[in-house]
Amino acid sequence: MAGLGPAIHVFLLFLYMQEDVDARIESAHDIVGNNAMSPLIDISGVAKTYGSGTLALSNVSTRIERGSFVSLVGPSGCGKSTLLRMIAGLIEPSSGTIAWPQTENARPKDIGFVFQDATLMPWARVLDNVYLPLKLKGLSLKEAEPRIMDALARVGLADFAQSFPRELSGGMKMRVSIARALVTEPPVLLMDEPFAALDEFTREKLDDDLLDLWASQKWTVIFVTHSVYESVYLSERILVMGARPGRILKDIAVDVPYPRGRPFRESPDFIARCAEVSAALGEGMKR
Ligand SMILES: Nc1ncnc2c1ncn2[C@@H]1O[C@H](COP(=O)(O)OP(=O)(O)OP(=O)(O)O)[C@@H](O)[C@H]1O
Ligand SMILES: [Mg+2]
Repeated sequence: MAGLGPAIHVFLLFLYMQEDVDARIESAHDIVGNNAMSPLIDISGVAKTYGSGTLALSNVSTRIERGSFVSLVGPSGCGKSTLLRMIAGLIEPSSGTIAWPQTENARPKDIGFVFQDATLMPWARVLDNVYLPLKLKGLSLKEAEPRIMDALARVGLADFAQSFPRELSGGMKMRVSIARALVTEPPVLLMDEPFAALDEFTREKLDDDLLDLWASQKWTVIFVTHSVYESVYLSERILVMGARPGRILKDIAVDVPYPRGRPFRESPDFIARCAEVSAALGEGMKR
């Protein structure tokens, strides 16, 4: 039974997202009127105490704009995954609110979530793992297959569609999990250290692929990482969190145009921005 826990977790996430909010969300894509100035996600005074008594987050407030790319960095245990799970609606805040003002507070049905662990169904082929969210939407495997293969190709795993998770390396499993999150082309993508287990070369490539997709699909991305370099390279904004109970200590804008590419990675500007984030992170560790 040990392998069932994560799979049920994913399953529940997708079931949860089948809520009856489709129509409001569909129309939200086209909103340009009254709500255009409001953020996509309005997080206000959020705290989370787990049943064990652990105060994971305290008084977190921020606004996430539609189409933005925001990274969360902070010490281990400061509540980054907790915050993502609350945004996805998997768990509720103990106090405070997470509102979706552009969609009458309905959370989007299609939120892609790349969990910190790959959470694949061990008994199912890679193809079937990536099929799961489309299956839950009622698509037959035949209808879904071109999209599944496209998502697998994006993460470089088209040749492994028939493999089982046990036949893959840790990094490959994570890439399957990313393909599963991409396959529905969700407007909101929550990514919890998705590339942490990958080698530097693959990671940089996937960073660039993610930015290309973000630019073309106009996603809103919230990305958790422990890599200061990765956060600066990817993001428009970096929220630096302090040690538990987590709070947002600094909101750093990375006002560098996209596409960024290797010249940015190697520029003095990049190094300076990394130093700024590292300094804020160092402060966060102390508190
Ligand atoms: N389900 C849970 N039940 C009880 N406590 C939990 C649970 N999940 C997380 N916590 C606690 O809440 C705090 C924040 O955990 P969380 O996983 O959100 O941290 P994190 O910032 O994602 O850490 P990491 O960088 O190591 O992934 C930790 O002290 C952790 O022990
Ligand atoms: Mg985490």
